[in-house]
Amino acid sequence: MVKRGMARGRSGAAGAGRMTARKVAGKAPGRAPRKAAPAEPKMLAAMNRQIVEELDSAYLYLAMAAYFEGEGLEGMAHWMKAQSIEEVIHAMKFFGHIHSRAGTVELQALAKPQKTWASPLAAFEAAYAHERHITRCIHDLVDLAAAERDHAALPLLQWFVEEQVEEEESALKVVDLLKRVGSSGHGLLLIDRQLAARAMPVSMPANGE
Ligand SMILES: [Fe+2]
Ligand SMILES: [Fe+2]
Repeated sequence: MVKRGMARGRSGAAGAGRMTARKVAGKAPGRAPRKAAPAEPKMLAAMNRQIVEELDSAYLYLAMAAYFEGEGLEGMAHWMKAQSIEEVIHAMKFFGHIHSRAGTVELQALAKPQKTWASPLAAFEAAYAHERHITRCIHDLVDLAAAERDHAALPLLQWFVEEQVEEEESALKVVDLLKRVGSSGHGLLLIDRQLAARAMPVSMPANGE
């Protein structure tokens, strides 16, 4: 920091020359951002489909949050809201990658999600089944990237491969807990309290405030 301040204050020809050289080296204002190599059309189409899958996941978990709110299980509702936001962040990762690869994001309509579930266990089992589906989608993307030799997509996809391990694990943990407590109302409330402790990825308004 000190060095940069000293250089800015220098009025000699040598200092000015250094500044010019730095600009030529790639920091000139108005220069277009550097982009990665364009992705293959098949990869771009598949990543666009994955944006829909991620937003569809967000919508499903938001529907589950609404269901849990209606059931008076605020901890589970909170957990699902956090999950829903994470899915939007996942969609944004593909959104950003497509643009970095000189592609175009094309959004599609989302299907209306289910409104109610037979029980909290049924909802979390559906969440787990959904994550298994998303894992298969991610693995298909990895296979496609390999077939298309799209090496630039691999770091992003590898992040998702690892993320899906966590996603399945966290949903399955709740399924196991709910199975263990069975029909115990007390046990259900304990799990609800535990799920309320999940950190929210971003702060969000509560109760419409
Ligand atoms: Fe996701
Ligand atoms: Fe997920």
